[in-house]
Amino acid sequence: MKIRDIEIKNPVIMAPMAGITNMAFRKIVKEFGAGLVYSEMVSDKAICYGNQKTIEMLQVDEGEHPVSIQLFGGEVESMVQAAKFIDEHSNCDIIDINCGCPVNKVLKANAGSKLLQNPQLIYDIVSNIVKNVSKPVTVKIRSGFDKEHINAVEVAKLIEKAGASAIAVHGRTRSQMYEGHADWSIIKAVKEAVSIPVIGNGDIRSVEDARRMLEETGCDAIMIGRAALGNPWLIKQVVESLEHGTDIPEPTYKEKIAWCLTHAKRLMTIEPERIAMSQMRGHAPWYIKGLKSSSAVKNELSKVNTYEELEKILKDYEQFLDTL
Ligand SMILES: Cc1cc2nc3c(=O)[nH]c(=O)nc-3n(C[C@H](O)[C@H](O)[C@H](O)COP(=O)(O)O)c2cc1C
Repeated sequence: MKIRDIEIKNPVIMAPMAGITNMAFRKIVKEFGAGLVYSEMVSDKAICYGNQKTIEMLQVDEGEHPVSIQLFGGEVESMVQAAKFIDEHSNCDIIDINCGCPVNKVLKANAGSKLLQNPQLIYDIVSNIVKNVSKPVTVKIRSGFDKEHINAVEVAKLIEKAGASAIAVHGRTRSQMYEGHADWSIIKAVKEAVSIPVIGNGDIRSVEDARRMLEETGCDAIMIGRAALGNPWLIKQVVESLEHGTDIPEPTYKEKIAWCLTHAKRLMTIEPERIAMSQMRGHAPWYIKGLKSSSAVKNELSKVNTYEELEKILKDYEQFLDTL
């Protein structure tokens, strides 16, 4: 698949996730074979005000191409200004516009899924960004704002008309937040309505789900979010299955623990140890989810402050698992 002139080597895409898909995480899923990765969403206003932390989030490592930087905002002028800044100062490959975030704070800025209530504004934002940047522009949407206002097809047509190079569709409404089921029929309807590549998203938790999404919706690529947390092997399993028809076995507990520690070390290359460990308090329990007696360990992991503590807890747990 190509997103304009950017070659996406396989149709397995890691979803953008705020607080999660930083460079350390992206490099891991890239090593596990993801065809495309996205940054966490970044605020247009923060870029316009020159917020240092946000500017740092625009940096991309050589090993993670192709990568999209995702931008959120609700005004044409600041969105264009921020997109131009990304175009000129980030070595990312694609600029993505967030029209799906359901969080109140983002909606108050007229951004994220709030934009679904104003398709003309989406058109204005996307078309003006496309005119002003050289990188391809893509958009991520939800099926609609609520079940009375399912407008993904109308919005997708406008996004295509505005010059976007691909569209990702999460088959939930804003009202659903992350609850209930994603409605894949909306993804199919969008795919039938536009000619640009369509990326299907929502509730892919296994190789079978990924295959079914591609078959049922006809989408060009699939996007995996929550199911890859602590489980980058899922990305590899899907890629290998789609590309070569081969089954990759589930990881052993030793592999899970080793990658968890690698994740922590990589986070410490981009964040101070204290911040890296606060993030690992979220990630580490995901890595050991489903392993024997992991509940008590998860509790300990939720309190780690240093890498040394994290390593000790995980190594002790590994020794316990060795005895079983
Ligand atoms: C913690 C978290 C953070 C997220 N952050 C973003 C974000 O920054 N931008 C975005 O477009 N979607 C974001 N999403 C939505 C995901 O990209 C994805 O659309 C959603 O989780 C559905 O896919 P899944 O069922 O595979 O998880 C986030 C989801 C979660 C759970």
